Amino acid sequence: MTYQYHNPVAIRFGSQAVGELRAVLGDRRVVVVTFPEARDLGLVARLQELLGSSLAHVEERVQPNPDVQELTSMYESFWREHASTEAIVALGGGSAIDTAKVLMVGTDSGRLDELVSVLEGGRSFAPKRVKPLIAIPTTAGTGSEVTPWATVWDRASGRKHSLHLRETWPETAIVDPDLMLTLPPSVTLPSGLDALSHALESIWNVNANPISDTFAVAAARGVLATLPALMTEPQNLELRSAMALAALQAGLAFSNTKTALAHSISYEMTLRHGLTHGIACSFTLPMILGRVIGLDTRRDALFSTIFDGQLSDAPNRLSRFLNSLGVATDFGDYGVSGEEAAQMIRSALGGVRGKNFFAAGAWKER
Ligand SMILES: NC(=O)c1ccc[n+]([C@@H]2O[C@H](COP(=O)([O-])OP(=O)(O)OC[C@H]3O[C@@H](n4cnc5c(N)ncnc54)[C@H](O)[C@@H]3O)[C@@H](O)[C@H]2O)c1
Ligand SMILES: [Zn+2]
Repeated sequence: MTYQYHNPVAIRFGSQAVGELRAVLGDRRVVVVTFPEARDLGLVARLQELLGSSLAHVEERVQPNPDVQELTSMYESFWREHASTEAIVALGGGSAIDTAKVLMVGTDSGRLDELVSVLEGGRSFAPKRVKPLIAIPTTAGTGSEVTPWATVWDRASGRKHSLHLRETWPETAIVDPDLMLTLPPSVTLPSGLDALSHALESIWNVNANPISDTFAVAAARGVLATLPALMTEPQNLELRSAMALAALQAGLAFSNTKTALAHSISYEMTLRHGLTHGIACSFTLPMILGRVIGLDTRRDALFSTIFDGQLSDAPNRLSRFLNSLGVATDFGDYGVSGEEAAQMIRSALGGVRGKNFFAAGAWKER
């Protein structure tokens, strides 16, 4: 049996790492893609200072959960006005990095609907125009800085697409916990839980292997040990740094496995019930953990390591962890009836991500 692990993203990690942006870029001309509040937070000025005349344009219209409708004008103006730019710098959370991943691949027409129809049809797409991406996360959660995926929402049609091309790996991730000190609790919590979900999802995954597991276990232990303390001390750089590392490790784990059942369920919870991604993909974790313990010795050993040797109590411990952070763990708490929940789980098990769940067969038989 051999295992494969591949991740081409160069990583720079640590306090003040953003200061290395100029060295990473050389003299390439860049467009920065960021969120509207970045200017008031002083982040745009910081990049202007770092980049000088290499900065061609700042696109600051990124909205949370990038949607096809909002992305259209951004995409088309990028390829009309900045086609000669030599790289994109994404500064922000998963929404900014995912937006940049959409922008980085140019359709022949320069129109977004050409790309969307590829996503809708599940067809292959080999872009002739690609801009290298430098990803600078300002949240600790999505891991998008080290994955090739972008979530593209289409709320008008109640759907969610996943952009995933060979070309959409970032070239470099610059992970600087200083940039996360301004994150409000309302984002620190869900983004941190998103990282926990990525870690566990990469373990109960058909694509798991001992290499991805190493990152996943470290990530899960890191989130469990750090997030409650960070919620009470948001200005603590050491805790921000530990969370940033855990989220990065979770990203490295699921960059090779993809996600599984909890994420498959989450997309429906977000589209139908408006749940933030990080809550939607984490409130089911104790339930899923309870179902998988005892099915596979190797995975049990990993869960045991994550939960300090207390395997049988692990689902309860995880519930208590989430509840203590104010996150309810039953579908009913989100206004979802037992019948709707059962239907949602059934459909999630059959979805693309659900098929990555290693225990799908055992679940259906129960
Ligand atoms: N590509 C992937 O692999 C992947 C994985 C998981 C989630 N996602 C996607 O990522 C998105 C969620 O990303 P997220 O959780 O990072 O949040 P986000 O990027 O949506 O940001 C949430 C909010 O936080 C603000 N913000 C970000 N950084 C800040 C900072 N340093 N200080 C103050 N405010 C700040 C933003 O303006 C925004 O309002 C969802 O669309 C989700 O589907 C993608
Ligand atoms: Zn996620």
